[in-house]
Amino acid sequence: MIAEPKRSLLDRRLVIVTGKGGTGKTSVAAALALGAARAGRRVLVVEVGPDEQIPSLLEPGAGPVGYSGRVVRPGLEVMRIEPFEALAEYLALQFGVRSLVDLVVKNTSFQQLLNAAPGWRELITLGKIWHLAQLESAPGQPRFDLIVVDAPATGHGVSFLEAPRVVVSAVRAGPLRKQTERVEQMIGDPEHTLVLPVALAEELPARETAQLIQRVHHEMGIAVDRVIVNAVMAPPFPNAPENLDECLERLDPELRFDSIPGPETLAACARYLIARHRLNLQYLSEIERATQLPIWALPHLPQGVGGPADLEQLSEALLSAATSGSTTPSPTHPNRDSQ
Ligand SMILES: Nc1ncnc2c1ncn2[C@@H]1O[C@H](COP(=O)(O)OP(=O)(O)OP(=O)(O)O)[C@@H](O)[C@H]1O
Ligand SMILES: [Mg+2]
Repeated sequence: MIAEPKRSLLDRRLVIVTGKGGTGKTSVAAALALGAARAGRRVLVVEVGPDEQIPSLLEPGAGPVGYSGRVVRPGLEVMRIEPFEALAEYLALQFGVRSLVDLVVKNTSFQQLLNAAPGWRELITLGKIWHLAQLESAPGQPRFDLIVVDAPATGHGVSFLEAPRVVVSAVRAGPLRKQTERVEQMIGDPEHTLVLPVALAEELPARETAQLIQRVHHEMGIAVDRVIVNAVMAPPFPNAPENLDECLERLDPELRFDSIPGPETLAACARYLIARHRLNLQYLSEIERATQLPIWALPHLPQGVGGPADLEQLSEALLSAATSGSTTPSPTHPNRDSQ
């Protein structure tokens, strides 16, 4: 049996949420940030990349928050890191002349030159996150108890985490190396930083998650202490008899209830849901076996994740017990069975 992690998700200062595209990273990052703020933490959630999704999940109808960020509810701030803005800010801090730096960074040729340089976006983004983690509201008092990062999808997510190492091995001395070493130290400190992989209980995401953990945790030594398996279907007919399949076979094909589809169609739908649920359970076990880490299963929300109420539901499951050792999620809450 795989032991539960010794620490809560809320104990780290930095949680980097990553995983394959479309597995629910943004939803999980927003749900974690919401739950942490509810628990009294001062939280910053950071989106990386061109799109902003978290502000509209937390504050439906509200405008973008951009690089300067915004407090969206008590104790919860959201921002988006745009690498060019982060670079301009960094250079201005180094050279002290913001207007000149802006002129250079906004120059198209300079941007084209940078776009050809691998890894700088990841590095400058992580540098900004490092800087945010150093902010203080009073001497010795960090401004944020927890920073949650909605990181790029797995392939990019790994290069995101690898960027400091690549620079440290390539640059021998100077301020760039010094600054990058600090970033690498922050990411590699298990007391400070946790990488939180998000998977789906399906074949490809399961395989990719095992590879991600191999690279990030076992090879790079970054803390990963659980896997979030998102959108796990609850048993579709929790109180049905064991021989439900046979019962479905025996349905009278002539039965009709007004405009509701006939028994054959209903039986086909029921079989599909049962098969999907079983596959989910099979891949939950598969992910647990392949990663040897505790699994946190989050429920599939039939309505999707569209706003604060959905995030609350995910957040409750996220901050409760693991499903390790149990492969039968309950109807409304996949984690309940193991408690
Ligand atoms: N637990 C869930 N139940 C049902 N739908 C979900 C759940 N979690 C996420 N979704 C839906 O799945 C889709 C993808 O979710 P999300 O945007 O959080 O994933 P992502 O990993 O951030 O995607 P990307 O790689 O594109 O950034 C969204 O439509 C979201 O509403
Ligand atoms: Mg996303």
